[in-house]
Amino acid sequence: SSFRYRPEILEGVPEHLTRHLKQFEDCFLLEAAELKRITEHFVKELEKGLTIEGGNIPMNVTWVTSNPNGRESGRFLTLDMGGTNLRVCDVTLSERKREFEQTQRKFKLPKEVKSGTAEQLWDFVADRLQAFLEENPSGSQDNISVPLAFTFSFPVDQQSIRSGVLQRWTKKFNVSGVEGEDVVPQLEAALARKKIPVDVVALINDTTGTLIASNYRDPQVKVGSIFSTGTNAAYMEECRLVPKLKEYGFPEDAKVIINTEYGAFDNDRQILPFTPFDHQIDSESLRPGTQLYEKMVSGLYIGEMLRLVMVKLHEEGVLFQDKDITSLRQSNAVDATFLSIAEMDLFEGLSDMREEFEDEFSFSPTVDEMKVCRYLIGLIATRAARLYACGIAAICIKNKTKKCHVGVDGSVFNKYSGFKDRASQGLRDILDWPVGEIDLIALNASEDGSGVGAALAASLALNKVEQIKT
Ligand code: GLC
Repeated sequence: SSFRYRPEILEGVPEHLTRHLKQFEDCFLLEAAELKRITEHFVKELEKGLTIEGGNIPMNVTWVTSNPNGRESGRFLTLDMGGTNLRVCDVTLSERKREFEQTQRKFKLPKEVKSGTAEQLWDFVADRLQAFLEENPSGSQDNISVPLAFTFSFPVDQQSIRSGVLQRWTKKFNVSGVEGEDVVPQLEAALARKKIPVDVVALINDTTGTLIASNYRDPQVKVGSIFSTGTNAAYMEECRLVPKLKEYGFPEDAKVIINTEYGAFDNDRQILPFTPFDHQIDSESLRPGTQLYEKMVSGLYIGEMLRLVMVKLHEEGVLFQDKDITSLRQSNAVDATFLSIAEMDLFEGLSDMREEFEDEFSFSPTVDEMKVCRYLIGLIATRAARLYACGIAAICIKNKTKKCHVGVDGSVFNKYSGFKDRASQGLRDILDWPVGEIDLIALNASEDGSGVGAALAASLALNKVEQIKT
């Protein structure tokens, strides 16, 4: 076969189904040399983000200035508002080294809340926190406030660990009255309306929480990253290398975690290989021209990418010719889970995949058609994984880190088998140093960033206040 990408999948598939596929190899295959070129530019953009003038990548200062030492202790509540869910946890860090207990509850964030008003959003959050506290009474006296860490996974400009002005909504959030505002007082006002006895002590990003939580277990972790609805990473930076921190007069050896917000990489379209599908996804998104790297990589968009490609092949007279594909024509009808189920289907006759088609799109493709889809899914997911590797590699190259672990969390990373291997292969293609020195490590679900990571951030924040007082 003349296919460059996994020709074995297409074995035995008739020519009328494969003859249009070459165009997608041209779109989605990224050779090592191209990944290297992208990464080189990425390194420069990370550096630019640290300057006073700034660049596309925000490189937000988080005010978390140390790693946990493992002896943190106390009880903390954590709230996590990220992509799909609102999660509330009650975490107790124990003084015995690196141990904790937690109770948690997840609430689905309704679509109306994600695109309503600020007051609706914060009331929803406060209401669910209250429900959680009623179910899990603390046992402590009523008049004592529990410290709370808020994981707010959007780009914020922070002047301290307990404040953050939302720069812009990302992913599919579009709540009015929050952009340009400090989210902490907004949340506090809602908590006060319901008289909930908590004290917001830290505002962190999910990547920061992931970095802290995974470093707590494994000190070799130098980068924390999320691959989920969105894509982003955080790392510990030396303050003396951050021009925009000069005015704060940090001591020579001070460090701070930087939340890169590198989903915004290449918003000026200098280097990424945008395909017509990428342009379509961006122009139909809530905020065209923003988060361009994220839109090529993350879980929120790879399903849509597959949908556009399948519909195109239908239009070209190749796929699903005699089928009613009405439901496939709905934008965002395909999500990342569809891709991972399809790729994991090892059954003769692809019965899992067929079931997905029937349940989700109300038609039943032929086995050969499904093989073509499998091939396309592989191309799309591999491109995402290889582009994902560029961001991680860029941080390691910028920091001259030759050997480290990268703590990765996020539903797509954890559930999409094969993603990690593809991303690791991408890293090996980019980095010239020996194979396997930069290892992607999945965060253990029980020690996730928004629970224990956020609690640790709260504890670090409180200790700092203590140090200043004494
Ligand atoms: C988006 C957000 C970022 C977050 C990432 C993963 O990129 O802007 O803050 O870390 O999604 O949830």
